[in-house]
Formats: sequence, structure tokens, C-alpha cells
Amino acid sequence: MKVLVVGGGGREHAIIMKLAESPQKPELHCAPGNGGIAKYAQCHAVKATDLDGMLALAKELAVDWVFVAPDDPLVLGMADLMRENGFKVFGPSKRAAIIEGSKVFSKHLMKKYGIPTAKYEVFDDAGQAIAYIREQNTYPTVVKADGLALGKGVIIAQNEDEAIEAVHSIMEDRIFGESGAHVVIEEFLTGPEVSVLAFTDGETVAPMISSMDHKRALDGDRGKNTGGMGTVSPNPYYTKEIAEQCMREIFLPTMHAMNGENRSFRGCLYFGLMLTPDGPKVIEYNCRFGDPETQVVLPMLKTDLLEIMEAIEKQALTDLPIEWKQGACACVILASGGYPGKYETGKPISGLDEKGQTAGAAVYHAGTKLENGTFLTAGGRVLGVTASGETLQSALDQAYAAAKQVSFEGVHYRTDIGKRALAAK
Ligand code: AMP
Ligand code: GLY
Repeated sequence: MKVLVVGGGGREHAIIMKLAESPQKPELHCAPGNGGIAKYAQCHAVKATDLDGMLALAKELAVDWVFVAPDDPLVLGMADLMRENGFKVFGPSKRAAIIEGSKVFSKHLMKKYGIPTAKYEVFDDAGQAIAYIREQNTYPTVVKADGLALGKGVIIAQNEDEAIEAVHSIMEDRIFGESGAHVVIEEFLTGPEVSVLAFTDGETVAPMISSMDHKRALDGDRGKNTGGMGTVSPNPYYTKEIAEQCMREIFLPTMHAMNGENRSFRGCLYFGLMLTPDGPKVIEYNCRFGDPETQVVLPMLKTDLLEIMEAIEKQALTDLPIEWKQGACACVILASGGYPGKYETGKPISGLDEKGQTAGAAVYHAGTKLENGTFLTAGGRVLGVTASGETLQSALDQAYAAAKQVSFEGVHYRTDIGKRALAAK
């Protein structure tokens, strides 16, 4: 059994380490991978968005499975291309990946099928967007670029000036590129955020253990939005009652809505939820595993991930019981100095063993490379130091103790990952 995982970050490292536990003992490949992944899988220098290159690689390696982890190749149709060429694929079709690829699509879907989300309007004209903002005259308000923007296409405007500035920079200056051709202006919601990743084969939705991301760069949820500075699982705000309500009002309706649009979703559907005073609402959908949510969700999975992939492929997910470990998991991201702004790379990392790991934790490499046997920083988010424990506190203590063992010039990390989750109890 050969598996090719597409991507090269912490999420892909966590997927590879989970696949490495499979009793089916798959031969693991990754493209492009990174320095840490290279210790667990053969890495190949093909970019995640290079569809033709990836197909050629899959053929050359004669893999059984292609696991497409990142959003952009899915939105470009890599899953379809691989399926057409006879590979088994984990990941949704291009038609289904639009649920993340276009916020205009996902907002209209939710409206059409009565799925709870923030009230919104869509504009392709900056003047009309600004007129609407003035007419609403309610702040904060949320301005979103339509397409993929590396998780950064959302601006929370605190007043009219900021909202107008957001419209100009998205639609005219195109700070998020072509994804700014349309904007969504959306009501500002409040409440704890929950990430729920769910396996689905288009007939069954099997939610995974819940998690909480920490998107801001600095302690106390200050500073700029990042790809995620740390995660914990499970999310204590997500009670059994809320989970049942989400299944009824959000998860099943979303799966049925996608079927209704002839866009049946197979793979991992990510629900970014906010638990508002009016009940849970969808903030965003992603068409893939979250990063760094995966780093705290997959370590808690007991069932063989390959078996789940097979069940989804056969549309037999309903027959497979999926089991989770007790306890909690915490991931602390070590980032390069300056991230999410400008940062330097190529700094030697100390405190890692030969496998790129450190005692008492799993270290998922997000942006590293191996040079002459030394791990060097190679990205904004560098490592995700992850530990499990009987309680969230013990998982956090262990993750932070391990994080302190690892260092590189300019390293920064949040010291309050999990604090809000601990306060929920
Ligand atoms: P997204 O990229 O859509 O996940 O948005 C990034 C972050 O912006 C989310 O995690 C929320 O914290 C925040 N956000 C997005 N939409 C809203 C909203 N309608 N109300 C409040 N916060 C929001
Ligand atoms: N952690 C949020 C995401 O993967 O988009």
C-alpha cells in the first residue's frame, strides 16, 4: 500500500504520522513535504499546486492513494484529476471544494438551505458595498474577500472609516489578489469559536473531536491574524447538547445541501463555528483538514485513518465506528520572529533529535528544511509542539515544557494557548 500526501506543513506531518501508525503499514510519500516530514516519508520536490507534476509523480510511484491535504490544489481540481486517472483519493472534487473556494457560494448555500450563519450581502462594486455599509451603520462589521486568501481574507472593521478602507483595499488594491473581485459584507457575531472537522462520504457525516484554534499572533488574542498559533482539543465550549444541535442544524443540512446542488462532498469538511447567544452559526467552511487543528485532532484518533479513507471511498462510512481517545491534546506553534509579517528563514533549530522530535511531545514540522543533518527554519510557522494528557492542563504543561527545549533565533510563541478553554470549565 503506497500513499502520496500532497502538501508540506504541520497538518501534512500530522497526517503522515497518523498513517505511519496504520496496521496496514503503508509506504509513505509526500510532495513537497519538509525537513521534519522527510524523517517519516519520502519527500518529492513537486509543488502542491502543480497538478500535472503531481499526476506524473503519482504515476511514477504507482501509488494506491493520493491524499490531497491543502485547499488550493483541491479548489484547482487535483482530486478529480487523480480520480480520472484511477487513483483512490482522499479529498473533495473541484465542484465540492468551492464550499471553501468561494465565500459567495457558501453564503448563498447557507441562505438557500436555512443553515445558520451571519447575515450578509455580496457586492461586485465598491461603491455599492460602501453605500450598504453606511446604510447599515453598525460596527464592528466584517468585510471578506470572496476567494482563497491564505486564511487572511477577512477584515473586522471597527468603524466606518476602517470598513471603507477594507473595501478599497480588497476590491481596488486587490491586497488578496483576484479573490477580491467580490466582497461579502457580514454581520459581526460574538461567542466562543469552535472548529469541527468531519469525515463525510456524502451520505454520512462523522464529526471528529472538536478543537479550538488561536488565530491572533499575540497573547490575549491581540496582534494580527495568522494561520493559527496553537490549538487544543476537545473544545470545552462544545458540549454534547451543542454537538447534537450542530448535527441537526448545520452538519446534516450542509451535506444535504451539497448533494442538492449536485456537489456531493467526500473527504474532510471543516466547520468553523461560533457559539452565539442565538445558537451555533457557521463562520466559514473549509474543504479540508484545518491547520493547526489537525495536529490536535488526529493524535486523538484511535481508528485506522486508512480504514476511514477506504470507507469514504466506498461510501460506507455509516458502517464504520470511529473511536477517539480520552483526555486532551494541545499544540503550541513556534513561529519565526516577525511572523505573520516579514521574517527571516534559514535559522538552525536546536533541541531536536535526529528525527526532528523532542522528548515528551510530538513535533509537527510546519516550515523546516534539512541541510547537512541540521534542521533549519523555512517558513513563518516553523514547528507545532504537541502533547496529549489526561486533562487539558497536563497536555498544555507538557507541550510548553517541550516547547522550551526547542529554540532558534527570533523564535516566538504564544504563552496562553488553552487559557480560554481552561476558563470554560
Ligand atoms: P475566517 O478566515 O472566515 O475563519 O475568519 C477569520 C476569523 O475572523 C474567524 O476565525 C473569526 O474570528 C473572525 N470572523 C470571521 N467572520 C466573522 C463574523 N461574522 N463575526 C465575527 N468574527 C468573524
Ligand atoms: N486553522 C484554520 C484553517 O485551517 O483554516
